[in-house]
Amino acid sequence: MSEQHVPPSGQPLVRALLERLRRDEPGCASTLAHAPALLPWSAAFESGEATIDAEHRRLFELGNEALEASRSMDTQPRVFRSALNALLVHVTRHFLSEERILEQRGYAGLEAHKRAHRELLERARELELQADAGRITIDELAEFLALDIVANHLLTSDTLFFPLMRERD
Ligand SMILES: [Fe+2]
Ligand SMILES: [Fe+2]
Repeated sequence: MSEQHVPPSGQPLVRALLERLRRDEPGCASTLAHAPALLPWSAAFESGEATIDAEHRRLFELGNEALEASRSMDTQPRVFRSALNALLVHVTRHFLSEERILEQRGYAGLEAHKRAHRELLERARELELQADAGRITIDELAEFLALDIVANHLLTSDTLFFPLMRERD
């Protein structure tokens, strides 16, 4: 396939996401099934390593669920907190799993990559504390997900190891 992946840049992605979060009504299950995802997955984001790709895909699914739930965080705080928790548990597990795979493949940038994961997890903890205190905003969640995790990490830092995955598969 000759599909060229151009990663969406972070700030416009966050802006577009916030516009949609503010414009669209929180959907009911039947309309959500047909609505395009707030953060759409693309096959162009695949690394070629099956475990990592499945986990990245799941991260998008859980991210979309947390964003949807964030629209009703004032009226249904428990639903939002549980969606945020599911997302952050998955992110934590994914980082460990990715680090194991990178170690097995002898990735030269492993230490720097682990540091980037640690920094993201520190930010995730801060967001959890804010959520517990009822002080998290949709903007902060959208920025963490769309900018820090998706645009700047999955579609930038992670892509640095894609050639290594393709070499050995
Ligand atoms: Fe990753
Ligand atoms: Fe990563």
